[in-house]
Amino acid sequence: MHGSINLREVRALGLKPEDLLDFSASISPIGPPEGVWEAMRSIDLSAYPDPDCLELREAICRHLSTSSRELTMDRVLVGNGSTEVFHLLTRVYLSNNGTALLMTPTYGEYDGACRLAGAQILNLEADLSGDFRWNITAAANLIGAKKPELIIVCNPNNPTGVYLSRAEVETLADAAKDTGSLLVVDEAYLSFVEEPWDSLALLDRPEVMLVRSMTKDYAQTALRLGYALASEDVVSRLREYQPDWSVNSLAQKAGVSALEDAGYLPRARKAVFDAKDYLAKELIALGLEIPHSEANFILVKIGDAAKWRSMLLAKGMVVRDCTSFGLPQYIRLGVRTMADCQRLAAAMAEVAQTALAD
Ligand SMILES: Cc1ncc(COP(=O)(O)O)c(C=O)c1O
Repeated sequence: MHGSINLREVRALGLKPEDLLDFSASISPIGPPEGVWEAMRSIDLSAYPDPDCLELREAICRHLSTSSRELTMDRVLVGNGSTEVFHLLTRVYLSNNGTALLMTPTYGEYDGACRLAGAQILNLEADLSGDFRWNITAAANLIGAKKPELIIVCNPNNPTGVYLSRAEVETLADAAKDTGSLLVVDEAYLSFVEEPWDSLALLDRPEVMLVRSMTKDYAQTALRLGYALASEDVVSRLREYQPDWSVNSLAQKAGVSALEDAGYLPRARKAVFDAKDYLAKELIALGLEIPHSEANFILVKIGDAAKWRSMLLAKGMVVRDCTSFGLPQYIRLGVRTMADCQRLAAAMAEVAQTALAD
């Protein structure tokens, strides 16, 4: 189960997708960068995409390189959404009876991809009765004991919003180095962390891969675009398993255009921070418990997630029931525009009254 609107369910309820506000996916609230549409018009639909995504990889390197650190193209793998990167990773690293360590509760696709590869899965669960953080020493010890081929950690984590510090990730990377494992840090929501630390410095370590999602940063989930940054060796191993043309020309062009729009991300971040601040205050005023989140979504403890989800859906608001994450008392709200969040806050207030009266 993923976030986002399920068309079959919406039809069964007699609703229309265009009448719904989708808070179940957590993407930039300001829509795609303006230039993207014009850029995509230049694509010849009768030509095959560039299987090497050359221009986009160059643009990613320009975007991420600084005067003191140059990123080279052979360290970048572009995928059909970061989802494709996870499936390539699990096939390459785990299909020979490998073991993966997942830090849970987290994004379900890691588990799904590991299962498809026939891997053994170790879950290290966060403190579910506290602040949702993990015991990093316990994680490092587990890596030492079980020597998993892959360790996947989502930072900031979906759905809890927990953001590991540089020191915590470095502890995991040290353990991965000692056991010859690959530490994969999924940074799908990093662009919306208010004060991020510089994770690109981790790329000096061959045992680390960073994965990023351009669909969320630039509100183009429909196009499917993500990328991985890792050592040349890791990138070329994954590339061998990737079908040619899996990243279509529209996505490649849109990606280049989005990266060239330097003003976009600061605007998207401001929109997220303002609306998130407003929404959090409203939820707290309703007496609801919200764990601290560093990402562009908020987890809310409401008691019966399935019930709240269907009551909000009846009001045209789609939220994520977190039962599939093992958190049946929580819903997750992706931050949208201020106006949309005002509508959600009003709907939540009505539902809270009904739920309390029950
Ligand atoms: C943590 C996390 N990583 C990756 C993805 C997949 O993103 P993409 O659209 O780049 O495939 C998601 C989507 O919800 C996610 O939550």
